Amino acid sequence: MDRRTLAQLLSPEGWMLLAQLPPYEEKQALQLAEGLRARGLDPDLVSGALTQSRLRTKARAKFGEFADEMLFTDAGLEQATRLVVAARHARRYAEAGVSYVADLGCGLGGDAMAMAGLGLRVLALELEEETAALATVNLRAFDQAQVRLGDAATFDPHAEGVDAVFADPARRTRSGTRVFDPRAYSPDLDTLLGLRTQVPNLGLKVGPGIPYTALPSETHAQWVSVDGAVVEAGLWFGALAPEGPGRSALLLAGGQAHTVAAPGDADARAAQAPAGDLGAYLYEPDGAVIRSGLVARVAEQLEGTLVDESIAYITTPTHRSTPFAVGYRVLDSFDFGLKRLRAYLRTRNVGRLTIKKRGTAVVPDQLRQQLALRGENEATIVLTRLRGKQSVLVVDPL
Ligand SMILES: C[S@@+](CC[C@H](N)C(=O)[O-])C[C@H]1O[C@@H](n2cnc3c(N)ncnc32)[C@H](O)[C@@H]1O
Repeated sequence: MDRRTLAQLLSPEGWMLLAQLPPYEEKQALQLAEGLRARGLDPDLVSGALTQSRLRTKARAKFGEFADEMLFTDAGLEQATRLVVAARHARRYAEAGVSYVADLGCGLGGDAMAMAGLGLRVLALELEEETAALATVNLRAFDQAQVRLGDAATFDPHAEGVDAVFADPARRTRSGTRVFDPRAYSPDLDTLLGLRTQVPNLGLKVGPGIPYTALPSETHAQWVSVDGAVVEAGLWFGALAPEGPGRSALLLAGGQAHTVAAPGDADARAAQAPAGDLGAYLYEPDGAVIRSGLVARVAEQLEGTLVDESIAYITTPTHRSTPFAVGYRVLDSFDFGLKRLRAYLRTRNVGRLTIKKRGTAVVPDQLRQQLALRGENEATIVLTRLRGKQSVLVVDPL
């Protein structure tokens, strides 16, 4: 959005137009735009308002009803921390007794809003002019939050008097390509980690694929999933990590939060769970449990074993309840073979097949085509290795 359009949107007329737009519907957008232009509204304002309306609708998934008072860019929204996770970040700062926090690379202000919402004083620094302008709008309700256009690379925590730092570095290039190497983050991970000598209360949001070897031993690294999808890893230092060094998984789903942790060096190798024979139940650990290397811990909790040493499926002889894995009852199992599988499913009149897989090169869509099933029943199969052997497990979700 250019400066002129932003200025128009922020005028009383623009702001009112935004508030009056009906819920965004792609199919109606063109007609709506034509109608607004026919009323004499500036075409740039109309286009800017409809873009915001589209983004606000999309942003409800991350920000709930707060989205209706915010301004977005596509890239900024994609990178923004969802409210439920940002609130968890903010809580660490509030509970650590922090009073003034710098958010280095604040984007549209998702994290800064959550911190300001808990009463913390926030200095939100952002390199891109448009993003900083929108963050200023998004943080307007918080007197104790200030957005500043500037480069985090030259930020001096002592001179600013902050007692904590948060950073969620950009993990994509200007053209939008994702970067996975922490050295290519902006600001880069080493620069951000270097801040902890000056500000021990440091928190960083990083990509969930970060290797353990990139973690300082003394950090508490927490992988977070929301409704089963892994969204980030948080690296917490000083008083922001009351758990102490180690790794953990935080699962947020349906208004509930569950944590499983392994204290110790954050960069230690993941413990290996033993493999055993297939039991009557199969458990698929949440992605945050897998990423944080805590499958062995969950297997121990379930008194289960892995189906294969290198595969993150846990099996147990009896039913166990856990928030950390999705469970299945095992109905059948046999060695993998196309003819055998087809015959098995056709005999049972299966037409709709859910295919889950781990540790096999089979492509589910191709397999589905090869099976050419036409029956009326539904089934779920798991393609995996049972102690090295390619196998099919027929399962029922618990
Ligand atoms: C992942 S986004 C932050 C999202 C934010 N936590 C939120 O919830 O909305 C990272 C931001 O850092 C900004 N950035 C990248 N390098 C920067 C630098 N050197 N100084 C300040 N900001 C920077 C980018 O422009 C981008 O807006």
